[in-house]
Amino acid sequence: MVQTSDISAAAKALKAGELAAFPTETVYGLGGDACSDTAVAAIFAAKGRPQFNPLIMHVESLEKARSCGVFGDRAMQLAKHFWPGPLTLVVPKQPDCAVSLLATAGLDSIALRVPAHPAACQLLKAFAGPVAAPSANLSGRLSPTQAGHVRDQLGGKVAAIVDGGPTSVGLESTIVSCLTEPPSLLRAGGVAREDIEAALGLQLAGGEIEDGKPLSPGQLQHHYAPEASLRLNADAPEEGEALLAFGPAVPAHGGLILNLSPSGDLVEAAANLFAHLHELDAKAQAIAAMRVPEVGLGEAINDRLRRAAAPRTLDV
Ligand code: TXA
Ligand code: MG
Repeated sequence: MVQTSDISAAAKALKAGELAAFPTETVYGLGGDACSDTAVAAIFAAKGRPQFNPLIMHVESLEKARSCGVFGDRAMQLAKHFWPGPLTLVVPKQPDCAVSLLATAGLDSIALRVPAHPAACQLLKAFAGPVAAPSANLSGRLSPTQAGHVRDQLGGKVAAIVDGGPTSVGLESTIVSCLTEPPSLLRAGGVAREDIEAALGLQLAGGEIEDGKPLSPGQLQHHYAPEASLRLNADAPEEGEALLAFGPAVPAHGGLILNLSPSGDLVEAAANLFAHLHELDAKAQAIAAMRVPEVGLGEAINDRLRRAAAPRTLDV
């Protein structure tokens, strides 16, 4: 494994069917050639994903995305407004799309995204094909927002890690399904629901549950998990707990405190979320998280915190 800023080495690894981790503006991705069944299988194996959840295909442009998926009016509107950026669109798969069936878990839909990070853009241009990439963490563990997080979890399993420093958004992309009308929010993420609704001029369907089952197969309850226990909506930390604080009013605490955003800024809090959880997890057995408002990016932050705190019996 090489940790590198050399994009061509990573593109070469992808072309050879090997895995390369790379930064996006959301989190680091574990990339493989989306059209190669063996590369896609290697992604699932490296992550230890027990189920073949469908992956997100990363492409360099809307034009490339349209060779994989069918873009109706809504999807076009969203792609033009938010790409490149932290939004993933689920659209019908093009019948002649060359992407591996394993990558889409055999569905007749496909999740596509054009990332905004310069290193990701360069890699996608150099590789010149769709790159399947889940977050570059072991299944059920915290998503990586720094190259070091990837090295610690997957160092032995990837040919290259492109080091682009800490990611700016820090949360996974928002996933919107354009299979429904109105489109549905499948996963809260780096673009706030309000911004998508403003761009469309309509409200998104909730989209998360249908017939008691999550619509997005990856939306399992226990997902973004630290090894430490996590207590939500804490007013004050208890004995032995480290504190994940938010905002200026932090309770007095003799123990470890990391503040997601001392000024109460939700964009800053999103960018710090996984890095702070990683750091607290390395240093404490128990974490108490203060309340974060459920508006803007707060919706995605709270979603990740709830998943991280969910009962471990649901581990996947
Ligand atoms: O920010 C991100 O989205 C990162 C970076 C690397 O791009 N990627 C990421 O991928 O978070 P992953 O594999 O951890 O999450 C992909 C999600 C899963 O919940 C999966 O179920 C959903 O996308 N998904 C993929 N294809 C789908 C489809 N056809 N229909 C519904 N959900 C789909
Ligand atoms: Mg993930």
